Amino acid sequence: MKFLVSFFCLIACIVASSSSSVQPSCHEKERSALLHFKLSLSISQFASIDPSAYPKTESWKSTRKESDCCLWDGIECDMKSGHVTTLDLSSSYLHGFINSNSTLFDLVHLHTLNLADNDFRYSLIPSRIGCLSNLEYLNLSYSKFFGQVPLEVSNLSKLIYLDLSNNVEPSSGAHLLELRQPSLRSLVQNFRSLKELWLSKITISSRVPKILANVTSLRILALTECGLHGSCPKVDDSP
Ligand SMILES: *[C@@H]1O[C@H](CO)[C@@H](O)[C@H](O)[C@H]1NC(C)=O
Ligand SMILES: *[C@@H]1O[C@H](CO)[C@@H](O)[C@H](O)[C@H]1NC(C)=O
Ligand SMILES: *[C@@H]1O[C@H](CO)[C@@H](O)[C@H](O)[C@H]1NC(C)=O
Repeated sequence: MKFLVSFFCLIACIVASSSSSVQPSCHEKERSALLHFKLSLSISQFASIDPSAYPKTESWKSTRKESDCCLWDGIECDMKSGHVTTLDLSSSYLHGFINSNSTLFDLVHLHTLNLADNDFRYSLIPSRIGCLSNLEYLNLSYSKFFGQVPLEVSNLSKLIYLDLSNNVEPSSGAHLLELRQPSLRSLVQNFRSLKELWLSKITISSRVPKILANVTSLRILALTECGLHGSCPKVDDSP
């Protein structure tokens, strides 16, 4: 009897361990989107400033043995669906342009997109960013994006963390991004869950919009060197 019990235990353990160790294997479409994205950029040691930077995409291989993109550096997949939900290529020595036809925007299941501390060579933030409507975390700081922040960013209504700060010209320190049309006001209008908004060194140059007080989830608001004026809106915390 004792033997039988331990035998069943053994079986149960084997079943449990094998089912928990099953890795999600990535979808072919997403794997090819990632590989195309990798090939659209080059690697340059001058593109990242963080001392711990390294070229994460170099572990991305198309050989059969290493073809499961869920196991690649900087990538996480949903355990059940196998879809790519995290792309963290911060400080990865990426150098090159990103535009709206980048296969990056085919990764529509992304919750986390971190491209911080790379050199995108004064690319505009592509308007197709608005298609990544599941994003909760978006970090494009320190990555040399240029121009007007597109209105489509305001489509990302699930965002909890948004960091577009510190896109500056390295030698002069000139601000590269601006938020004029759309304004800060229209950018934040759909954000219901936003906790952290980092926009330092983006040229905004307006009055502090009152609507900020309506984003009651906000915990951190970083707006240094944005050229804002006027007083901070009062949060109405009366019941
Ligand atoms: C992507 O867009 C650029 C211009 O924005 C264009 O030059 C290029 O040919 C396009 N690539 C593809 C594959 O459509
Ligand atoms: C965005 O990335 C930068 C550079 O890696 C980092 O310092 C910053 O904390 C990140 N922002 C958020 C909101 O996580
Ligand atoms: C906004 O998000 C919806 C899905 O929530 C998507 O269908 C639409 O194309 C997006 N619009 C823009 C302008 O990105």
